[in-house]
Amino acid sequence: MNSNTVLIGATVCSSLAIGYMLGKLHGSRRYADDYIQRPGRKHKKTEGLRTFLGYVAKYSSPEHPTVTELRRVICEKLEEFSPKTTEADQTSFITQLAKAIGAKKVLEVGTFAGTTSLSIALVLPEDGQMVTIDFKEDWVSTGRPIWEKAGVTHKIRSIIKDAARALDELIANGETGTFDMVYIDADKWNYPVYYDKCMELVRQGGIILLDDTLWEGYVCDPNINKDGKTSEVEPLDYQRDSIELYKFHFQSIYKRIAVHMHELNKKIVKDARVVVNILPVGSGLTIVTKL
Ligand SMILES: C[S@@+](CC[C@H](N)C(=O)[O-])C[C@H]1O[C@@H](n2cnc3c(N)ncnc32)[C@H](O)[C@@H]1O
Repeated sequence: MNSNTVLIGATVCSSLAIGYMLGKLHGSRRYADDYIQRPGRKHKKTEGLRTFLGYVAKYSSPEHPTVTELRRVICEKLEEFSPKTTEADQTSFITQLAKAIGAKKVLEVGTFAGTTSLSIALVLPEDGQMVTIDFKEDWVSTGRPIWEKAGVTHKIRSIIKDAARALDELIANGETGTFDMVYIDADKWNYPVYYDKCMELVRQGGIILLDDTLWEGYVCDPNINKDGKTSEVEPLDYQRDSIELYKFHFQSIYKRIAVHMHELNKKIVKDARVVVNILPVGSGLTIVTKL
């Protein structure tokens, strides 16, 4: 990374961090409570945080109009699931990072309707490639007409498959070490598996981003994390918890996911192959550079 990239990254991150923390202080406990008690993400913010993020949006470069259009289509067609979409501040940060490092080949684990894929594809060079994996064709297909309209379909390789299998196939296909950047944003249960496989796929000096690693701040909850030691809670169970998660019944599982994310954060910070920062962007965004 050159010094410009570092400077841009540091500026964006510190502004978002200050904003997030102000929002947290302002909303304090209510912010987290809103998140677990209400059905959709649009309800999770306190007034203080909303005002602050409004300011951040106003004085940050606007996203590409086709990305905004896709967000509107998602709200209309996939209303119930629209909170899955990566939020604008995070998408634009990731996209700026891809542009700043001059990424040519980017991988996303968890496409949903392709908001981030579209946004990144727009800044990739003509011969760049956005590889994006999801096992739910009906969600991905919601975004395809907008990819087409934006003129980036030729840059997007959409893989409809279970993510672990798809990553194994990329490795078997000889694509090890060929990705400049990876964004992991699928089922939380498999993050450690995705992290290990993506470490193979990303090139030396490349970046891995992982979403939700602060789990709305709950990783710091003393009931979950006592002096860095994970407290005892029932482990995640894919069959049971994925149904709850898809219904947005966060109350029943937020604690188990927070513990899981805390364990993941402990794993990554001990990984001698990387440097890592957790940014208080969105629900927590980990940025890892492969040494
Ligand atoms: C939070 S959404 C991704 C949002 C997307 N990155 C964006 O920019 O809007 C998570 C996605 O991961 C997908 N997913 C979950 N588990 C998966 C798995 N085992 N294999 C493939 N995709 C999976 C879901 O279908 C869902 O679309």
